[in-house]
Amino acid sequence: RYPVICIDGPSGAGKGTVAWRLAQTLGYQLLDSGALYRIVGLKAFEAGLLSVDIQQLIDETVLLELTKSLQIAFEPNNVSGRVDIIVNGLRVGEQVRNETVGGYASRIAVFPQVRQALLKLQQDMAMRSGLVADGRDMGTVVFPYADVKIFLTASAEARAERRVTQLVNAGQTADFDAILTTIKARDERDENRAIAPSKPAEDALLIDSSSLDADTVYQRIKEQCQT
Ligand code: CDP
Repeated sequence: RYPVICIDGPSGAGKGTVAWRLAQTLGYQLLDSGALYRIVGLKAFEAGLLSVDIQQLIDETVLLELTKSLQIAFEPNNVSGRVDIIVNGLRVGEQVRNETVGGYASRIAVFPQVRQALLKLQQDMAMRSGLVADGRDMGTVVFPYADVKIFLTASAEARAERRVTQLVNAGQTADFDAILTTIKARDERDENRAIAPSKPAEDALLIDSSSLDADTVYQRIKEQCQT
């Protein structure tokens, strides 16, 4: 069996960056499980399955059919430092990464059958090579036997601050209060859902990155991978 390293935690805690770096260093594949939920969320929205205010799902059966119809693959992209997502043979645009689609993702992520439909694809990735898995339920549900489990958190304020910096650096405007509200709403939904809620596995190492830089976080996690 190949090694599996799980990095779970809330939005904006810095999982993506550290997971990418770790996968590169160790020569492992990277599972960006959030991207799976984002794709399903986006497709559901495009298919008119979410109400305009995204508070309601129109049809759970159609959502499940849609989820099962998607062939999803990942390809590392050294320029963006992320994986590209290929759906039914087509590369998905950057739009999938924005906060609006993050909201769609957390809406459809509450449905057990949707999660079940995405489970095998995730577990199969660990059959082919070592894996760094980034998400909410990697250590609790998808890879309970994982070799290393990390739960990376940071205060909502620290996460909102980082998001503002990111947007400003990208030449966009950013409203701290609006971002903080959105982050808290998504945390609330992810932590309180009945199925696979976002929480540390019992055997996970907790790291609070509120006052740590990305390199320190990386070094701490990397240490765990050597033991
Ligand atoms: O990048 P960010 O942390 O903002 O979000 P993400 O990891 O791409 O995940 C988007 C949403 O998908 C989360 O808010 C969760 O609702 C859902 N998700 C999940 O339910 N389980 C996972 N393993 C990963 C993501």
